[in-house]
Amino acid sequence: MPSDVALLRTLRRAGDRAVCVADLARELGLTPAALNARLRALRIAGFEIDACPEAGLRLLTGPRDRLVADDLRARLPEDCTVGREIVVLAETNSTNDAVARAGAGGAAEGLVIFAERQHAGRGRQGRHWSSEPGLGLWFSVLLRPRAPSECWSGLALLAALAVAEAAATVTGANAQIKWPNDVLVRGRKIAGILIETHLAATTTKVGRRGHAVMGIGINVSHRVTDFPEEIRDRATSVAQVAGAPVDRPALAVAVLHRLEALYESWQREPDSIVAACDARCSLHGRRVRSAADPQLGGRVTGFDARGRLRLRHCETGEVLTIGSGEIVLMGNGDDTVAQNQTKTETGSQ
Ligand code: BTN
Repeated sequence: MPSDVALLRTLRRAGDRAVCVADLARELGLTPAALNARLRALRIAGFEIDACPEAGLRLLTGPRDRLVADDLRARLPEDCTVGREIVVLAETNSTNDAVARAGAGGAAEGLVIFAERQHAGRGRQGRHWSSEPGLGLWFSVLLRPRAPSECWSGLALLAALAVAEAAATVTGANAQIKWPNDVLVRGRKIAGILIETHLAATTTKVGRRGHAVMGIGINVSHRVTDFPEEIRDRATSVAQVAGAPVDRPALAVAVLHRLEALYESWQREPDSIVAACDARCSLHGRRVRSAADPQLGGRVTGFDARGRLRLRHCETGEVLTIGSGEIVLMGNGDDTVAQNQTKTETGSQ
């Protein structure tokens, strides 16, 4: 099937201006008949394209709430890394697995695979991630960072920041990052991140050291009853927060734009994203300690570039970090294990 990326890009860039059919056909290297056939196919796919004989073509709307790979690609910069290639699957087991396979097969960095439905979507610690069609954005990004693999743990924070920024723009609400890699609005989880790394035992002929898969699940259009019962009191969706329906393709494009900018900045300087993450840290100023090591505690000041939680010891002022595991929230003599780090949890959204 021919790609419609260039055609859609031209129509989208023109906005309200009509595009001359003859110019467009020439620009795309198509005969007028071939261009007409493409326009017909796009209309069947749900694009509303106004054709006025004197003025030309105008794209009025895209298909309502449907993810169309060529259209998503057309809405990103031509030379972007994240979203260089976009695939939309009707269903798969897990987009993380689909991207991992593509990565092992040598696919270029920046490939993004969305799925409308995942049969075996997974969250952290092997938990199930419910991924029903039409309700959310379930997708994974293939990355081949330049930094040594010890630094790749910072990618979770990067992804959480990109989602938080896009969700905040769409809803106007303050989206926060809950360590290690959840996005919360008003204390409820709106998105989760799952980074999986696949390191090569040796550097290959093409100099690849392996790849990272950045899996992102965003609850977009869920009503309360769309969530599994056991997580209803802890989960929310972008639409619930916005108080209005949210267009999934527009949100997907917003997140990919933020990922591109943040990834580019992180590649140059991993520390560059830390201040923005700190400003969205849901535990900022809270006293916490590691569940595994009660001596490791203090007041949360934010994160470090490797995605670790940064604390200041309450007596000594020493700067400490917690890299993984459960943390205990401390206060009023009534310590509680931070909700989504408990092992007894059944749902992951
Ligand atoms: C979590 O909160 O525990 C992380 C959830 C990550 C879910 C996303 S959905 C797309 C990608 N594919 C998966 O199987 N998981 C991630």
